[in-house]
This record gives sequence, C-alpha cells and structure tokens, in this order.
Amino acid sequence: MKTQVDEARLRWIALDADLPQIDCGSDIIDGLRQNPKTLPARYFYDDRGSELFEQITDLPEYYPTRTEQAILDTYVSEIVELTRACELVELGSGSSRKTHTLLTAYSQLDDPLHYYPIDVSAGILRTTALQLLTDYPELNICGVAGTYERALANLPPRIIQNRMLMFLGSTMGNMDDRACDLFLTQVQQALQPGEFFLLGVDLQKPIDVLEAAYNDAQGITAAFNLNMLQHLNDRFEGNFNLDNFAHYAFFNPVASQIEMHLKSLTAQTVKLKDLDLEISLESGETIHTEISRKFHLPTLSDTLTNHALQPLKIWTDPQSWFGLILCQRQCLLSGDCP
Ligand code: AVJ
Repeated sequence: MKTQVDEARLRWIALDADLPQIDCGSDIIDGLRQNPKTLPARYFYDDRGSELFEQITDLPEYYPTRTEQAILDTYVSEIVELTRACELVELGSGSSRKTHTLLTAYSQLDDPLHYYPIDVSAGILRTTALQLLTDYPELNICGVAGTYERALANLPPRIIQNRMLMFLGSTMGNMDDRACDLFLTQVQQALQPGEFFLLGVDLQKPIDVLEAAYNDAQGITAAFNLNMLQHLNDRFEGNFNLDNFAHYAFFNPVASQIEMHLKSLTAQTVKLKDLDLEISLESGETIHTEISRKFHLPTLSDTLTNHALQPLKIWTDPQSWFGLILCQRQCLLSGDCP
C-alpha cells in the first residue's frame, strides 16, 4: 500500500492577482511591435518547452546543469555550515536534483526544515511539493504561486528567524542589467540583515564551448526555441508556420551573452487572433527570444555588494565554468539593523 501523504506539512499561497496579468499577452504585443522584434523568454516554458528544457540539461554540449550540480555536491556541507538552520526559499521550480542535494543536507540538522518553492505554475508546484513530502518525511512546505516579484514581496512570516533565498541554474542570465538591478533590489528587500542568498551563475569561457551548448548536434535547443511559436499558436490562436523559421544562436562578446533568435526564412505575415495582432516579417528578419548572460565574477560581486548582498564565499568547478555565490544580506547605511 502506498502511504498517504501528510498534507498537514503542506500549505499554499496563491498570488492570483498575477495570473490574468501574466496571461493577457500584452508583453507579446509590445515585443512583436518593437524593432528588432523580441519575445519574452518565459514563453519557452509550456509543458512541451519544460520537457525540452529537461532534455537540454542532459545534452553532452550543455555543461551548466551538471557543472552546477558538481559544485553543489562538493560544497553543500560547507553551505550548511556557513548558514546553519534556515528556511529555504527557492525561486523557480524545485523538482530538480539540485533541490534534493540541498534538502538532504539541511535535513541532517536537528531543526525542522521549511521549504518555500516559488513558481508561476501552480501545477508544477503541486507535483513537486507532493513528491518532496514523500521523499522527506520531516519537511514542511509552503508553495508560493506567482511571479518572482510578487512572491518576494509576499513571503509568509518566518517560523525560523533565518532564511536563505536560492536562485540556481543561472536563470538570472535571462535578465539584462536593468532587470537584474530591479531583481536584486527585490531580493535585498525580501531578506533581513544576516540572512542568505545563494546564486548560481554561468561564467565566461571559450566561445566554441558556449556556442556548442546552444547549438547542440541533436537539435534539441532548436526545437526548444521553435516551440515558443507553437506555444503562442496554441495559447493565442496564432498561425506561425514553424517550417518558416530557423533557430539562430550565437555569442555576443560585447554584451558577454548568448543570444537566441528565430530567423524568418521568407517574407511572411503572421496572425495571433486572440491578441488581434498581425505582424509582417522580412526574409532574414529575426525575433529575439532569449539572452543568456555569461558573468564575470568580480563584476558580479561588486553588483551584489551594491545591493547589500555581500558575497561570503564563491565556489567554482576546476575550469571556472560555473559559479555558486553565497551572499549575506548586510545592514544598510540608512540603518535597517536593530
Ligand atoms: C534556464 C535560462 C539558464 O540560459 O542556459 C537553455 C535556458 N536556453 N538553452 C540558459 C536555455 C537555451 C537556460 N536558463
């Protein structure tokens, strides 16, 4: 018999006000009316897109996931030592192996463990939470469904007076400087002085390694990129013909970022019926779908320090391809310390 999951250890916070705003597609209209055209990277992640991303993380060319995992495996006990018992708040889906590594290490401590996964998809949260309750019989979970922004501003009150916010997988690489600035300000405000921020970031490395990671031989990354158009077709009654677009990814050394685009293979017009939108593309014109920044650790450390997030310790792999930064929230000069 399968044991029943103890739902007393599970709570939910749904920030529903986000959902209509997320779903209305105004960001798509804005992006496709720009010149050059852009689409927000979050539209990669419908069910099919999330599945394709999972496949990407296993590709031989895609080094970030396994490199970050290796760093975590090596240093997780040090992270636990430095932070001691704390509530773990994770931005993005928590179904991954990385989360297990951290939860396993923290559950060795005597104190009760509290985990707060944050995700825009309530469905993913629920699946993840139920699985984790089974895997960790002592774990308490409070899932927060909503955007990072609203979730960070509406976290439940602390049970243990010590929190660590985790943002792994170099998802911050999708944010440009301005978005990064805004995000780190929100992180700063969500934490109390003395609390922790664990950040995983992809780093600069030879261009051939970078470009191979986003142009894999099996074409999974291409399928992932093109799937965004299918997602828009499904969601907004669009008529993008995926055969008329090609995956195009390259490293931009000036901005130090991988850029992913969808290149129009012909002159064409596309409609998104539900958004009342019609756009024209010239042959060779591109739609910019993603940036994936490759950070310079000293520069990023300064940026974090400027947001009152003091790097305590930085770990990398032997090739310095990926970085894991443990920051501690400092007191502000204006004085937010007791
Ligand atoms: C999940 C944003 C970290 O930028 O490497 C993978 C997404 N895009 N292959 C990344 C992605 C193409 C990934 N992040």
